[in-house]
Amino acid sequence: MSVPFLDLKAHHDPHRAEFLAAIGEVIDCNAFAGGPYVAKFEEEFAVYCEAKHAIAVGNGTDALWLALLGLGVGAGDEVITVPSTFMATAEAITYAGAKPVFVDIDERSCTLDPARLEQAITPRTKAIVPVHLFGQMADMDPIMEIARKHKLYVVEDACQAHGATYKGRKAGSIGHAGAFSFYPGKNLGAFGEGGAVTTNDPVLCRKIQVLRDHGQDKKYYHSVIGWNCRMDGIQGAVLSIKLRTLEQGNAARRAHAKRYDGALAGLPTLRVLPPASYGIPVYHLYVVRVQQRDRVLDALTKRGIGCGIHYPIPVHLQQAYAGLGHGVGSFPVAERCAHEFLSLPMFPELTPEQIAAVVTEVKAVLAA
Ligand SMILES: Cc1ncc(COP(=O)(O)O)c(C=O)c1O
Repeated sequence: MSVPFLDLKAHHDPHRAEFLAAIGEVIDCNAFAGGPYVAKFEEEFAVYCEAKHAIAVGNGTDALWLALLGLGVGAGDEVITVPSTFMATAEAITYAGAKPVFVDIDERSCTLDPARLEQAITPRTKAIVPVHLFGQMADMDPIMEIARKHKLYVVEDACQAHGATYKGRKAGSIGHAGAFSFYPGKNLGAFGEGGAVTTNDPVLCRKIQVLRDHGQDKKYYHSVIGWNCRMDGIQGAVLSIKLRTLEQGNAARRAHAKRYDGALAGLPTLRVLPPASYGIPVYHLYVVRVQQRDRVLDALTKRGIGCGIHYPIPVHLQQAYAGLGHGVGSFPVAERCAHEFLSLPMFPELTPEQIAAVVTEVKAVLAA
């Protein structure tokens, strides 16, 4: 049996008629850029995230960038984040004019290690961007405590963590802002690009609303220099529909992860990543650590099991950031993980038979 890494068709088919009707409404109202469908989604998403405000934007990279700009991050500032993330986290910092400063991850949670955070803080540090990687939140209490002590802003990169919780609190509701991506494969995915910033701060909310719309306070009155980061009306309408089944999808992902964890535990060359005790993850990705990862990935692919690597090169070793002067050994945990991480099929509609097939093939490949 072959198993896809992600099956968006299975995800969309049951709601196809509803999606088409909603898109039809947007066409009938000419509500293509921003507009009432986006505003409705913003209200619903803020409620879902237990945040006071949500500002819909063009994608998750915009969300990170505008959150940083809105908090006043700019030239000469340093922003702390992790090397184990998608490139966009660091790009947003660079495009805000600041310098990304990396802190290694904690081996258990694969998120920012609070024990290493304080030593990276300098007089130039302005903000911290913890990344809730694979759908598991970073250890937010010590991060927020250190941020308070040093008067730093915290922007949660929640692009992989829609609905994840930390001690009962939702991703995107703890820091000064949260940034979400609605890239199609995310737990909450649009029919194209989309993103949102969440915040409890009305002043920051207004700043980001103005920045995402060419710096306009009202039409053709530009109080600041902004950019065009508006969300499309069609994405707003589609996301409102999909938001209704996000909890159900997240619960299914957790059940799948539990099944995988049980079946894959105890293998000599593979390690499952148990959830941190402080929260409930949403398994945007189901990732294991495995020796000879590239051989295993290759063999699984040949056997029809869709796999991925998130991410093969940590950000500090990317060519684009060669100028920061890091080398191999700078962030050893992130580097080790980059060699061992393997993402197995994970999506809500995955069946027990498909999981069993993945497990059988993984065991066969490891035994070969
Ligand atoms: C951790 C993380 N940050 C930021 C982003 C950027 O989001 P987008 O692709 O919507 O710009 C992503 C998306 O893949 C992500 O996974």
